[in-house]
Amino acid sequence: MRVMVVGSGGREHAIVLALKKSKRVTEVFCAPGNAGIAQVASCLATDASVSSLLALAKEQAIDLTVVGPEGPLVAGIVDAFEAEGLQIFGPNKKASQLEGSKVFCKSFLERHVIPTAKHQSFKDELLALEYLEKVGVPIVIKDSNLAAGKGVTVATEKEQARSAIENILSAPEGGELVIEDYLPGQEVSFLIFVDGESYAPMLLAQDYKQAFDGDRGDMTGGMGTIAPVSLLSDAQYDYVRREIIEKTLAGLKKDDILYKGVLFIGLMVTESDVKVLEFNCRFGDPETQVVLPLLKTDLLEIMEAVIEGRLAETRLEWSDEAAACIIMAAPGYPGSYKKDIPITVPELAKNVTVIHAGTRLKEGQLVSSGGRVLGVTAVADNLDRAIASAYEAVEDIEFPEAHYRRDIGSRLQKTKN
Ligand SMILES: Nc1ncnc2c1ncn2[C@@H]1O[C@H](COP(=O)(O)OP(=O)(O)O)[C@@H](O)[C@H]1O
Ligand SMILES: [Mg+2]
Repeated sequence: MRVMVVGSGGREHAIVLALKKSKRVTEVFCAPGNAGIAQVASCLATDASVSSLLALAKEQAIDLTVVGPEGPLVAGIVDAFEAEGLQIFGPNKKASQLEGSKVFCKSFLERHVIPTAKHQSFKDELLALEYLEKVGVPIVIKDSNLAAGKGVTVATEKEQARSAIENILSAPEGGELVIEDYLPGQEVSFLIFVDGESYAPMLLAQDYKQAFDGDRGDMTGGMGTIAPVSLLSDAQYDYVRREIIEKTLAGLKKDDILYKGVLFIGLMVTESDVKVLEFNCRFGDPETQVVLPLLKTDLLEIMEAVIEGRLAETRLEWSDEAAACIIMAAPGYPGSYKKDIPITVPELAKNVTVIHAGTRLKEGQLVSSGGRVLGVTAVADNLDRAIASAYEAVEDIEFPEAHYRRDIGSRLQKTKN
């Protein structure tokens, strides 16, 4: 089978590596890919529009397309491929609204009585500011539309909340936002495969989102991940399955939405409570980098089962090891950052994989081309060893001025003691 992965980041590199393990995959393409992906797959240049990707899939006689990022899903890539009879993995345009519109997501959660933070949606600035006066801080302001991880402000000061509201609603084309109650707790990423009827859970992962150690600094796309995390008690795990996942799947059915693909459920967990923060309609980045290396079942088989509605017959097998991914970012990220920094990756330990997120080749030299540049991932027989191996490799990589967090995994160690 000829498989094409859409995207250019670390998540896509991890998906390509997992698909290459499948016996039935003969060739893997990636559109557009990056310098690391180019070492293991054929990269295809593209402007990443739905029409160009459709043309590429036909030109290259692709048997299955796997969509990494949310942009093309929300733009309707799945509908376009299906209309032409091409196989594609991911939810259609309507189903992708769960991520594409936070207003849609919150009203879905409310309609189906799924636990989430109390909220109100606004298009009108005065009404939003009036509501802010009433509820006070801490409070969370969310741009309803896709914002590449930059649309959410967790405000501890009213002024911060006010300027977030003004920023979103002053857009000339008119904006929309959600104001929701601040939830304390620890976050966990619960990813599931869904085939429209059944679902199969993946291992729980945890992302470290802020730029600096101790969860300080700006939100980023994710500075590191670990899996599996034992953050939910058995009772909480059952609660999530019953009150969140099963109600979500039933709600989708009731609303006549066919959801096929990966559903990423962002959860906020305290000792006494679990609530949905958001849904994403695809694999997480950098969660995928730690979850897929622990998947023992053939990923292609799972994806085909999802597309054909046979997930109930498919058993997922997981390694009993653990994985950690440390993101090496360009200096300045998530603000403006330097590009074209030369990088040298030496021979590393066997249990380490350097996943590329933002790299390219410049006259034969590997250089940085994005904010998040590498995801150094290690698998070991326990989490402490995986984290230690990943950091050893980070130290060995020549990447001048690289910014990375030194405390990936430490939250969990705190809860363990
Ligand atoms: N209600 C909330 N209470 C506390 N923190 C929140 C809340 N909603 C979001 N956050 C924080 O903001 C981050 C981004 O919010 P999220 O809803 O996941 O939007 P997106 O990923 O689209 O930017 C979350 O990962 C979490 O750290
Ligand atoms: Mg999120």
